[in-house]
Amino acid sequence: MRLIRRSFVATCVAAAAAAAAMPALAQSKEVKIGYALAINSHYGAAAQAWADSVEKSTSNAFKFKQFPASALGGERELIEGLQLGTVEAVIVSTGALSNFVPDVGVVDIPFLFRDTAHARAVLDGAFGQDLLGKFHKRGLIALAWGEQGFRHLTNNKHAVQNVADLKGLKIRVTENPVHITAFRTLGASPTPMSWPEVIGALQQGTIDGQENPISVLSSAKLWQVQKHLTLSAHVYAPVALIVSPSFWGSLNDAQKAAFTQGAKSGAMASRAFVDAVEKKGVEEAKSHGMQVVEKVDQAAFRKALEPAYKQYATKFGQKTLDAISNTK
Ligand code: PAF
Repeated sequence: MRLIRRSFVATCVAAAAAAAAMPALAQSKEVKIGYALAINSHYGAAAQAWADSVEKSTSNAFKFKQFPASALGGERELIEGLQLGTVEAVIVSTGALSNFVPDVGVVDIPFLFRDTAHARAVLDGAFGQDLLGKFHKRGLIALAWGEQGFRHLTNNKHAVQNVADLKGLKIRVTENPVHITAFRTLGASPTPMSWPEVIGALQQGTIDGQENPISVLSSAKLWQVQKHLTLSAHVYAPVALIVSPSFWGSLNDAQKAAFTQGAKSGAMASRAFVDAVEKKGVEEAKSHGMQVVEKVDQAAFRKALEPAYKQYATKFGQKTLDAISNTK
């Protein structure tokens, strides 16, 4: 009898504790977060780290709901969603971003960054942090720079070893004026297209190729639709972790700090993921039959890009370009 009473009391205590926890759960504010790639990509890693950090530091006052794989639309739609307040957070490449925040286009200049360490130093330093600040007057709150890696070229026509091999190739590029200028200057036929259309267009042959980092190649299994990979490393690809201004306006200072810290954790998670996938991704592509050109003569590509560099200097200012180049 005493045993039954004790277990009855224990059940009541557990039920009371659960009931006490419930209002906290019920009050969790949902944070919809959208991104273009699969949940097991560098974007998924960033979103999860961001979610874990915010949920923990706010004692679950917020609950992230992930919308991976372009479920909320292409990157342009995601950015517009932030401005409209229909999505609270996104992780996007700079592909479509410079149509909203033109100053961002500077980081898309080919061969601007010497290597990953240089790019990270610029983005984590004063220049990159100032750039985040420029999102505000464009109706966006950017909190951190994550990473995709350096972009490389894939196509179905032939191995691209040098600039001449690009002639006439229909290459899908992001809706990014800096990238479009670069590929046009190199003699290719750049075709701006939103990411959700790319795999279908490659399958149907309406484009010959595309360019993206190893992280994307691996996540999207591009070897299923592309034969040739050229490790051109022509452009460094950062990603921005951004929240909607209306959502931001609803947060108190402590919550803002939690979201900023969480975005930084997300950015670091994307970089760690990229470091790992870059090591194994090329071997994976080869094992699936991709023909890989391991290296290109980057100096020859830079030379061919000289007319484009003149346009970039006019657009962004030679001083800015030099400041980035001279960052150690
Ligand atoms: O090529 C793009 O549009 C972007 O790199 C992608 C794949 C959507 C990831 O942000």
